[in-house]
Amino acid sequence: MRRPLLAGNWKMHTTVLDAYLLVAEIGKCSAGLKDRDVLLAPPYIALHAVSSVLHDSDIIVASQNVCWEENGAFTGEISPTMVKAVGGTAAIIGHSERRQIFHEDDEMINKRLRGALKFGLMPILCIGETLEEREGENTFAILEGQLRKGLAGASSEDMGRTVIAYEPVWAIGTGKTATKEQAQEVHAFIRKLLAEIFEKDIADSVRILYGGSVKPDNVDELMAQPDIDGALVGGAALDAESFCRIINFT
Ligand code: 13P
Repeated sequence: MRRPLLAGNWKMHTTVLDAYLLVAEIGKCSAGLKDRDVLLAPPYIALHAVSSVLHDSDIIVASQNVCWEENGAFTGEISPTMVKAVGGTAAIIGHSERRQIFHEDDEMINKRLRGALKFGLMPILCIGETLEEREGENTFAILEGQLRKGLAGASSEDMGRTVIAYEPVWAIGTGKTATKEQAQEVHAFIRKLLAEIFEKDIADSVRILYGGSVKPDNVDELMAQPDIDGALVGGAALDAESFCRIINFT
């Protein structure tokens, strides 16, 4: 059985002080949740603050991206060992905002993923189609390309600690969630593809998160789908009450 994973991506929100306040609230409402994992991805500058507040909690701390090198001349980047040194154990990779605004391509995303794996972080590989691609009926071809290229070089063993997040670009920050049927259809497709690339056992054990306008009022129906194993939440993760409701989905 796949353990649900509820993740909050704070994007470029929260000062260090805001982060302290938000994580304190989330820490309280997640205490005692034994059957699911909770993950927070604050801005880099707040990683240390968040993980220090969570030092005796099971909440996973993640960076929002990560470089493939341990150190060097990579201005503006953060290395896997730096993330680990402040208590982070996971990294979001290939978010659509990285792909679209900062022009990260599949090759770079794959380097980041392999770097995360090499240094022992849990990568969360994000894939997703734009509205234009969906309307042109290219959704599955786009997702297949992003998944195959993003995971190139990953072994079956690596998949034991890799998470996939399906985030349709048209549903991010728009209030327009994929319907539970649309999301389930894509998640089942991703799982089938994982079985082709690796093997069925691996595909059955990989967690596939849905992201894109997940809110307190739609989380339960999304989480009830057989291939949706969690959520990657943006806007609603910045409000303690909303995020607490989301992680306490029934
Ligand atoms: P929203 O929940 O704000 O749509 O953002 C989703 C997202 O991009 C999470 O990574």
